[in-house]
Amino acid sequence: MDCRLHLVLIFSCIYLTCLSSQQETRFVYNGFDQANLFTDGLAKILPGGLLQLTNTTERQTGHAFFKQPFDLAPSESLSFYTHFVCALVPPKLGADGGHGIAFVVSPSMNLSNGSPTQYLGVFSIPTNGTSSPHLLVIELDTVSTIEFDVLEKPHVGISVNNPLSVESALPSYFSSALGNNVSINLLSGEPIQVWVDYDGSLLDVSLAPINIKKPNRPLMSRSINLSEIFQDEIFFGFSASTGKLTSNQYILGWSFSRSKELLQTLDLSKLPQAPLPKDKPEKLSPLLIGLVVLLVILVLIVLGGLYLYRRNKYGEVRESWEKEYGPHRFSYKSLYKATNGFSRDGLIGRGGFGEVYKGTLPLNRHIAVKRLSHDAEQGMQQFVAEVVTMGSLQHRNLVTLLGYCRRKGELLLVSEYMPCGSLDQYLFHNRNPSLSWFQRISILNDIASAINYLHTGARTAVLHRDIKASNVMLDSEGNGRLGDFGMAGFHDPRANLSSTAAAVGTIGYMAPELMTMGTSTKTDVYAFGAFILEVTCGRRPVEPELPEEKQYLVKWVFECWRRDSLLETRDQRLGGEFVSEERTLARFLTIFSRYRGFYASVII
Ligand SMILES: *[C@@H]1O[C@H](CO)[C@@H](O)[C@H](O)[C@H]1NC(C)=O
Ligand SMILES: *[C@@H]1O[C@H](CO)[C@@H](O)[C@H](O)[C@H]1NC(C)=O
Ligand SMILES: *[C@@H]1O[C@H](CO)[C@@H](O)[C@H](O)[C@H]1NC(C)=O
Ligand SMILES: *[C@@H]1O[C@H](CO)[C@@H](O)[C@H](O)[C@H]1NC(C)=O
Ligand SMILES: *[C@@H]1O[C@H](CO)[C@@H](O)[C@H](O)[C@H]1NC(C)=O
Repeated sequence: MDCRLHLVLIFSCIYLTCLSSQQETRFVYNGFDQANLFTDGLAKILPGGLLQLTNTTERQTGHAFFKQPFDLAPSESLSFYTHFVCALVPPKLGADGGHGIAFVVSPSMNLSNGSPTQYLGVFSIPTNGTSSPHLLVIELDTVSTIEFDVLEKPHVGISVNNPLSVESALPSYFSSALGNNVSINLLSGEPIQVWVDYDGSLLDVSLAPINIKKPNRPLMSRSINLSEIFQDEIFFGFSASTGKLTSNQYILGWSFSRSKELLQTLDLSKLPQAPLPKDKPEKLSPLLIGLVVLLVILVLIVLGGLYLYRRNKYGEVRESWEKEYGPHRFSYKSLYKATNGFSRDGLIGRGGFGEVYKGTLPLNRHIAVKRLSHDAEQGMQQFVAEVVTMGSLQHRNLVTLLGYCRRKGELLLVSEYMPCGSLDQYLFHNRNPSLSWFQRISILNDIASAINYLHTGARTAVLHRDIKASNVMLDSEGNGRLGDFGMAGFHDPRANLSSTAAAVGTIGYMAPELMTMGTSTKTDVYAFGAFILEVTCGRRPVEPELPEEKQYLVKWVFECWRRDSLLETRDQRLGGEFVSEERTLARFLTIFSRYRGFYASVII
């Protein structure tokens, strides 16, 4: 018995507390982490407690209701007091957003018929046959449109059963400190506080930014008899929608009570934060923009200058016909590096035609680079072809031409580096050690062999055209090596490059018939003859400062030969160290004399 009575008592207690709690219902949510909410559409509670009604998907709705219904006892008059904080964040700050948030009092939590855009997910596009809904809506509409034939700016409104507001105002709050209304930008993205108070007959709506206390004058006041709208139970909640314009629309916190005295205050410091758009358009000052533009231009100028400088420094001329000479082509950059930027230290020779530099390629390969200036583009192809052909000739007594490079107004020829320099330095400039008779004969043999190879060894006879002591180099073993093939066509400024076959060469070595008959192997032989005399006599073919009979070497030697005093012409520096009966030389001189005699009438 005791036990049963006990149970009855407990149950009646529970029933009574339930009943009373229903009558006195109030709640406060500083963030919705543990909230007892019904949501549909896009609405959801984000981690952190933020209630998101919509994101920025177009033409969507979202609803959130407090799940527990409120009774409308006929005896009692309905009253409620609520304070909530919302934030409407457009995709870009300062841009338009849509469509808005509504505080809804509804007989049902099912607002799935609610249309998006200006209907805010609450009302539906009117159709015949549907009875008008029973709804009280306090809306924060953020879009200016022509709605229901009225131009509406962003506004706060009260609507009853019908999307057309019965009361509306521009969003603002009354500041008692300033004594006037201060407007509120609904789309600032900042939290906005809203108060909706209904005391049973009068509905007050107030707005304020987050840092402002509840204004002591409401934004709107309207007398409404809710008992005429709703029958037995009602739900409180929120609705929001997007249209073509969209916003992230949030509720940050919500406090509700059926009595004014029991309304709990929201702890604004505990509210979750509504995220602002990341791509916040930074307003750069024109000065900064100007500076940046200036900097960019400066950098471009410097880079451009650097590019032009490098292009100029390493610039080359390349033409399509040069493709076949590819392997013989050196890049200017590699030559520039090899010669240390053509530094004066590397200068090993200088002539009327250009300068010769010593260079070192990677792998310690020594080269000589001859820089020739030229203005004539015409005939260059033939010249390069010839040079490259000669480069392909291989003989132990030829200075191998390794390749070439072309730039504007400049041709560079790359050949083996001869450490001992050219023969004329020993003959005429007293470079030590002075050459003995045997060395001289050996060198003459070497050069004869080289000329023989040029004239007979290749597929077609190759003419040297400028055989002379300064074109004969000595290698490290003292062997004579013939260099500078075909250069005669290049040195002579009067000679047109396109006719390298024309009369070219150096005075004193040029066969007399050259002028009339052009070059041939014979003119090379003649020049070789003059060269032999140069080597044995130790003087240049033409020396204007000598007495007249000695000026022309060839002529003088022949005069002496005729007078049987040939030995008089020998290089006096040899002293007694020579072989007067030198067989090779004698044989050659005989040939040379015949040859010369053949043309003697022309020159002497
Ligand atoms: C909005 O939310 C819905 C559902 O959660 C999701 O499918 C959609 O991708 C979201 N849209 C944007 C723009 O985040
Ligand atoms: C909501 O109402 C619509 C019609 O008004 C109905 O079709 C739908 O089933 C209802 N949804 C729920 C969850 O009751
Ligand atoms: C609604 O009904 C009225 C008459 O009852 C009619 O004139 C009107 O065209 C109808 N509208 C629609 C959208 O059906
Ligand atoms: C402020 O706005 C309210 C409602 O819109 C209006 O009644 C009132 O006259 C305004 N007060 C001032 C000082 O403008
Ligand atoms: C409100 O409406 C109900 C039902 O129509 C009525 O009984 C009540 O007197 C009205 N209250 C006021 C204050 O007008």
